[in-house]
Amino acid sequence: MGITIIGTGRYVPGVPVTNDQLSKVMETSDEWIYPRTGIRQRHFVEEGEGVSDLALKACQKAIADAGIEPEDIDFIVFATMTPEFIFPGSGGLLGAKLGIPRVPALDIRQQCAAMPYGLQVANGLVVSGAAKTVLLVGADAHAGFMPWEDWDVLSGESDREVSEEAFDRGTRHRGLAVLFGDGAAAMVLRDAGEGKGFLGADLHTDGRLYDRIYIASGGFRSRPYFTPEMYEREEHIPRMQGRDLFKVAVTELSRSVRTICEDCGVTLDDVDWFIAHQANDRINGAVAKALKLPPEKVPSNIAKYGNTSAATIGILLDELRRDGKVKEGDLCCFLALGSGLNWGASLVQL
Ligand code: ACO
Repeated sequence: MGITIIGTGRYVPGVPVTNDQLSKVMETSDEWIYPRTGIRQRHFVEEGEGVSDLALKACQKAIADAGIEPEDIDFIVFATMTPEFIFPGSGGLLGAKLGIPRVPALDIRQQCAAMPYGLQVANGLVVSGAAKTVLLVGADAHAGFMPWEDWDVLSGESDREVSEEAFDRGTRHRGLAVLFGDGAAAMVLRDAGEGKGFLGADLHTDGRLYDRIYIASGGFRSRPYFTPEMYEREEHIPRMQGRDLFKVAVTELSRSVRTICEDCGVTLDDVDWFIAHQANDRINGAVAKALKLPPEKVPSNIAKYGNTSAATIGILLDELRRDGKVKEGDLCCFLALGSGLNWGASLVQL
């Protein structure tokens, strides 16, 4: 007994923004971004659009794919690091938009590591009898923390030059800003029956490393919790120690994948797919190399979307299922590291 994935869906907003377009609002280039990250383009939400709006579109596809009705869902697990409001969380907003307003909704805060965690939480809900059909959603809208204001220049609507001050601000945060894009993905999860489904997870959180990627302001240590001075200091934009994160990700993700396979009594060869968080192609390449995995078992789509945080794994899984690559019976390992730091790997036999 354990959950399996009976439906998936994905949604990304608007038209893509290329690396060349980013170079209008900061000092950067495709020549810098692509070889270091694998990213060619990303999508951004419209002003006024939130993660529950993105999630709604992904969920409608996942629900249709599963062949169920929204009313069949009896638990929502919503993963995001960019909710509409500081409180309440976005899961309840999604439930209301789906027309199932009284269904319990749990928001989880594992950032980019959401899916290995979310699968274990959903499995626990089903195995304990608390739920039969769980909607697991990952959605993020990073546009609100991007270091530019000239969205019209970025999109090509306007060909005016941005101010020197704005260009410099973009450049100060370019190491972070070029990585992220917006999107949503959903999975419908149900009991798999004997011999299939969720096998286990190896999960970790190390709060000592919180400052490797975090938003320094807008929290309740401060009175009020956000001030004009915080904005002046550009503390609404995440701070990131990219090189450090890179090293921790390669080391810990390799270790987690080995551990969960050993714990579950499967070999790395038994695993059909290593569906990894899309933060940087070079991170996943280094994990594959450390574990001697064939590159074709570690698929990538970061070129099209950038890092969509909680959504990357679900978007990639949905693409692979709809392309007929990932099939029923396949053994999938989901691995991710995110702010917290949280990380881990989970194994599911589809
Ligand atoms: N365009 C042009 N130049 C840039 C850019 C850019 N976008 N960003 C940085 N540079 C410059 C730097 O200023 C620096 O210049 P200098 O040598 O003159 O000082 C140079 O390029 C090298 O910068 P580094 O930051 O050292 O570059 P690095 O090779 O480490 O690559 C990167 C940076 C891509 C961010 C990498 O470290 C990485 O991917 N780390 C992991 C990040 C990650 O996974 N983040 C998500 C975490 S998950 C979550 O929960 C949100």
